Amino acid sequence: MKVIVIGTGYVGLVTGACLAEVGTQVVCVDVNAEKINNLQKGILPIYEPGLEEIVSRNYQNGRLSFSTDLASVIGGATIAFIAVGTPPGEDGSADLQYVLQVAKEIGTNMSDYLVVVTKSTVPVGTAVKVNREIKQAMLDRGALIDYDVASNPEFLKEGAAVQDFLKPDRIVVGVNTDRAKETLEQLYHPFLLNGRPIIFMDIASAEMTKYAANAMLATKISFINDIANLCELVGADVNQVRKGIGSDARIGTSFIYPGIGYGGSCFPKDVKALVKTGKEYGHGLRILEAVEAVNNDQKKVLFNKIYKHFDGLLQGRTFAMWGLSFKPGTDDMREASSLVLINSLLEAGATVQVFDPVAMHEAGKTLKDSVKWCKDMYEAAAGADAVLLVTEWNEFRLPDWPRVKQLLKASVVFDGRNIYDNAYLHKQGFTCYSIGLSQSTVGVLSNS
Ligand code: UDX
Repeated sequence: MKVIVIGTGYVGLVTGACLAEVGTQVVCVDVNAEKINNLQKGILPIYEPGLEEIVSRNYQNGRLSFSTDLASVIGGATIAFIAVGTPPGEDGSADLQYVLQVAKEIGTNMSDYLVVVTKSTVPVGTAVKVNREIKQAMLDRGALIDYDVASNPEFLKEGAAVQDFLKPDRIVVGVNTDRAKETLEQLYHPFLLNGRPIIFMDIASAEMTKYAANAMLATKISFINDIANLCELVGADVNQVRKGIGSDARIGTSFIYPGIGYGGSCFPKDVKALVKTGKEYGHGLRILEAVEAVNNDQKKVLFNKIYKHFDGLLQGRTFAMWGLSFKPGTDDMREASSLVLINSLLEAGATVQVFDPVAMHEAGKTLKDSVKWCKDMYEAAAGADAVLLVTEWNEFRLPDWPRVKQLLKASVVFDGRNIYDNAYLHKQGFTCYSIGLSQSTVGVLSNS
């Protein structure tokens, strides 16, 4: 089976490489010639564990190839995935211009039966628009070729995308013909070992599933962040509360970790887009509006603690920031909480010394020389008034605290991800602030 994947961004590249890995013939197409040139040389546009190896192995064995010219590679393909970007417009809705351009190009160039699958996260109703574009393009050239449209949302997590693709919790596919269903069932068969399900449904439901899943996960995070903030006020420890509620299987222990807000390319964008869809249909999604508002506030929580600790006197102070990316395992800086915190600190007249194991290059594109770039966490701590733990990379989990203490001007740690044992740090002579832990309980009970 030959498959075309259009768009070599995060989703497209992972999809193309992993499909090739199980034996499918894949051509990844992108209009960006520099990207395609680089991919042919084995240079990837993103950092994702395991991806480089799969791309180079399948490129070398000929199952994966790259092209800038859809027209010349579409012949003989059975499936075309549309995996181009859907950036948020000013009003929060997903911008579909690239998806629809590709649909038109497919309609103009296809020569045999094709299942055209939207893989990008697109609002409910997009498949209808994609179908319209293909049909019109075919009418324009007087062609009559059979095709189907389908929706196959991805649930990949950055930093674990290859594993998520190869061993999915489930595969969701929206189709409206048996032929499309059988074609996609065949494509995904190699991934369905050990009882992993493929769930077929109608197209609108598949499109909605992606948004509902991300909205539900974002809701869990904003919920626990809200509870964490209240815990601080009433003298409770959110980590104990989290364990207490998580052991009820209906709530569950995963994805209820408080922190400094969710970021990345999916949650912020998808929550906004779903709220927008609700408005369009005259149905306000009040819970999701609150989820977004809580998250925006949560990105400021660490700054507020810093401001309070230093009595608002931040002018001329220096802060060591450990971590920049929106989460560990990725260099992605989109909607990262670190950016909000850095802005506030700079506005208050402070200096920020940063270190991130992977995201320095990516972060440099926006931060430029507004911060001091350090070679490791200790250099960042040198001469600083406090450490700010922003991204929970493994290498930040067990610092050489005596060394950090010596390097810092004052022994203060603001832990934005609750990875440190406050009681332990307290004994080492540090003042440690975390999320959802009242200062009155520090040193009384371990929060680990
Ligand atoms: C997410 C979804 O998990 C994935 O299924 C979807 O396809 C794309 O969006 P991703 O954005 O890569 O994946 O990251 P994820 O690991 O889900 O984390 C998102 C954000 O939530 C991060 O900023 C993370 O720090 C935050 N988070 C996550 C919390 O604050 N607390 C948690 O308990 C979990």
